[in-house]
Amino acid sequence: MKRPEPRVPDRTLAELEADARVQQMKQYVQHGRVSTFAHCESVAALSRKIDKALHLHADAGTLLTGALLHDFYLYDWHDGGHRLHGFRHAELAARNAARCFGVSRPVQHVIRSHMWPLNISRIPHSRETWIVCVADKCVSLYETVFRR
Ligand SMILES: [Fe+2]
Ligand SMILES: [Fe+2]
Repeated sequence: MKRPEPRVPDRTLAELEADARVQQMKQYVQHGRVSTFAHCESVAALSRKIDKALHLHADAGTLLTGALLHDFYLYDWHDGGHRLHGFRHAELAARNAARCFGVSRPVQHVIRSHMWPLNISRIPHSRETWIVCVADKCVSLYETVFRR
């Protein structure tokens, strides 16, 4: 049986950023002194820049919603109880985003595949996913090295 298509969110990016569940990401450390919320904002900003600079014409809603929610897993991965975080968090974030905001399948794909090639079977299939995947690695490296 064909599953129904998830509802496309009827929120602007600003409304999404202001949502209490998204704001919760401010409580968790991503890298060094950077919260998960700040990390996701940086990934969204760099994704937008890459798209513009390379004239990739990504779908802005998919790109920015996916970037903002790509680490929407809602826990602190440093506190010990989260084995295999690197492998598991993208799937968890995609499920949270679908449950809380009804994000579309293309947005879920951005979130689910952002850890490729660590999650080797989750190959990016869209330009939005490739952009977020690259932006996340650049931002993570910068935060890990320079924002300790
Ligand atoms: Fe991640
Ligand atoms: Fe990330």
